[in-house]
Amino acid sequence: MKIFTTRHDIQAYLKTLGKQTIGFVPTMGALHNGHLSLISKAASENDVVVCSIFVNPTQFTDAKDLENYPRPIEEDIAKLEAINCDVLFNPGVDDMYDGNEHWHLNIGQLEFLLEGEFRPGHYQGVMQVVYKLLDIVKPTRLYMGQKDYQQIAVINRMLAIKNIPVEMVMCPIEREPSGLAMSSRNIHLSDDDKQHALVLSRALQWVKDNFDNSRIADLEEKANDMLQAEPGVQPEYFELADGQTLLPADASSETIVALTAAKVGKTRLIDNMLIK
Ligand code: PAJ
Repeated sequence: MKIFTTRHDIQAYLKTLGKQTIGFVPTMGALHNGHLSLISKAASENDVVVCSIFVNPTQFTDAKDLENYPRPIEEDIAKLEAINCDVLFNPGVDDMYDGNEHWHLNIGQLEFLLEGEFRPGHYQGVMQVVYKLLDIVKPTRLYMGQKDYQQIAVINRMLAIKNIPVEMVMCPIEREPSGLAMSSRNIHLSDDDKQHALVLSRALQWVKDNFDNSRIADLEEKANDMLQAEPGVQPEYFELADGQTLLPADASSETIVALTAAKVGKTRLIDNMLIK
């Protein structure tokens, strides 16, 4: 695997690839099987796979969260080598950002719903870094996980507004056998936390199994009750949203996704499931 730590070097290398297709997987590292499933899919559909590992400061709303974010770079490199990733881009903050850069893109309500309400400014930071990464890598396809459903919706808006010619590929959520969605943050969970955290996927599955257009509010209330009742879990939201707009779902929504976020112990977790 080729490893680059500056924009200049990776761009010089990518120029030598000519017309080959590039599948790009942006990450913040601490790689698990969820990330690796994106890389494998990208490898099966493109000539070259580029993965980036960059813990992006502009998308963190909490300085402690940024500081505590795991950064096991040697292990990450070994995992990428083992699945034959072609290129790793692992820049430093100073290489990605030129001092006081300003970014703002109006994507309407989508920025402020759900995650946006609990993490103000988060999606502006995500768009900023993904825009810059796409500008550097210029991939044919962009691989992102359904795990961060709203993030994909946000990036899709940005791609449309900025007219960026890349194909978004949404990849399914990888879960532990227990049902827990894989996340870099799971390493902060104690064994007890892990047990309690199962209520997220259980509530989502329950809503899916019991779905009926006429019962949306009732299902949300019952799922919220399930989360509330679980010890060690502080629910933030559980909502059924329109799969396209992420506004509250109603009977006319063609696709519906249930999304939830909760603190389990000190760790904030998110999960979602396509319901309709
Ligand atoms: P990160 O949290 O490292 O996630 C990188 C990619 O892996 C995202 O597209 C995410 O949805 C996907 N992913 C995470 N857990 C997954 C799982 N259990 N199953 C499938 N895919 C999973 O998301 C980010 O980084 C950042 O916001 C980023 C887009 C890199 C911008 O900084």
